[in-house]
Amino acid sequence: MAGRNAIPRTRRNFLKASASSVAAAALTPWLKAAQLGPSSQVNFTGPDSLRAHALGHGLLYGAAVDPALLDVEGMAAGNTADPYTLLVANQANILVAENAMKWGPLRPTPATFDFAPADRLMRFAALAGQRVRGHNLCWHEGLPDWFKTTATRDNARLLLVEHIQTVAGRYRGQLHSWDVVNEAVEPKDGRPDGLRNSPWLGLMGPDYIELAFQTAAIADPAAKLAYNDYGIELDTPDQTAKRGAVMMLLRRLKARNVPIHAVGVQSHLMANGPQPGVGLLNFIREARKMGLDVYITELDVNTRGLEGGPEAQDYAVAQVYRKYLGLVLPEPNVPIALTWGITNAHTPLNELNMEWAKREDGARQRPLPFDDNMGAAPAFTALRNAIDSSRPSVAAPASAPGIDPSTLYQPFRVQGSPGTSPGTTPPPSKLPPPPRVR
Ligand code: XIL
Repeated sequence: MAGRNAIPRTRRNFLKASASSVAAAALTPWLKAAQLGPSSQVNFTGPDSLRAHALGHGLLYGAAVDPALLDVEGMAAGNTADPYTLLVANQANILVAENAMKWGPLRPTPATFDFAPADRLMRFAALAGQRVRGHNLCWHEGLPDWFKTTATRDNARLLLVEHIQTVAGRYRGQLHSWDVVNEAVEPKDGRPDGLRNSPWLGLMGPDYIELAFQTAAIADPAAKLAYNDYGIELDTPDQTAKRGAVMMLLRRLKARNVPIHAVGVQSHLMANGPQPGVGLLNFIREARKMGLDVYITELDVNTRGLEGGPEAQDYAVAQVYRKYLGLVLPEPNVPIALTWGITNAHTPLNELNMEWAKREDGARQRPLPFDDNMGAAPAFTALRNAIDSSRPSVAAPASAPGIDPSTLYQPFRVQGSPGTSPGTTPPPSKLPPPPRVR
């Protein structure tokens, strides 16, 4: 997945895109047969939300977001009517910044940090009673332009350590987890250790990975520390080799007592082609034996190569969600799954100008649980069913006696929507904190 370039986004662009998007797909008989449910008829708010179902099964469901698209001010005032903001707040137990916590956005110059977008996300999550994952502290992509000319063998260690101290230190005690190192493995680069020839490796050698984890552990001792990678889901020769190389890296780190708690499996899947199977399951079980959790960090389903209209796409995408999450979520060391975005109106697959992201017929991609109009797509039902059948229900918030559990699921409502009277919804900031799941 090389060459992903950041594209500027504004709230206005986003809302325009949503408004011009196609209407929800019509229900077809085979869709009914698959019991995926018509998107327009599925109840998905409050106790029917992904947030409530995940909470009820001891899991976290989350999504990547762009803080610029969230109506944080409306949330703070307790009166947001922005559909995207409400969707994010109501559906997710946990958020991750799609870009805002990467080096590029955080480091406009070598000497300065811009925390405004990342802080905005933290504020939103606090208002909505959501947890946050940090993504990421060290990656070969997403680096600021000045990095190439400024980073040298002499200063790279200091640059990395200071960055991690400053960024992880700023959010110390507030994050669920950090993707400390992202995408450091690439067997095709031909090294015996399977590591990618990244700028960090070139400047510092393989020890940069260990240094990043050690520094993060000191900067934020409460956050779970994860290694995150893509292309390790399938049983194809390439992905089997890469998964093996990731496992070798994890073993090396564990053998050296490096503070690592989880491995992130990005899960950018394709509807057309081989699907994850026994190789990934064995990997998850191996990780468990090593005391590692596995996080599903960036799930989405690309339908490039799949023929058919929107219904066929929705069906295929939902099937991938069903089979994939049915495979991985029942594993006891998989406590969390995030999708890379939440609605099809806002996904890199519809925003990046890259061949691998586009459908051959030019139609919009439909990779996420909610459609362009923020209604539930068939993938929503597949995801919710997979959550429900992954593990037994847990008792509703026993840790918070006297609190109506429905307030945990339904932090706020659209003002004036049926069943609510404007002004009666308590401001989100008065909500109890969400129970901590791992
Ligand atoms: C992507 C974002 O979605 C894009 O907006 C950006 O232009 C490039 O990065 N693996 C990762 C994510 O770990 O950080 C990437 O996010 C997608 C692939």
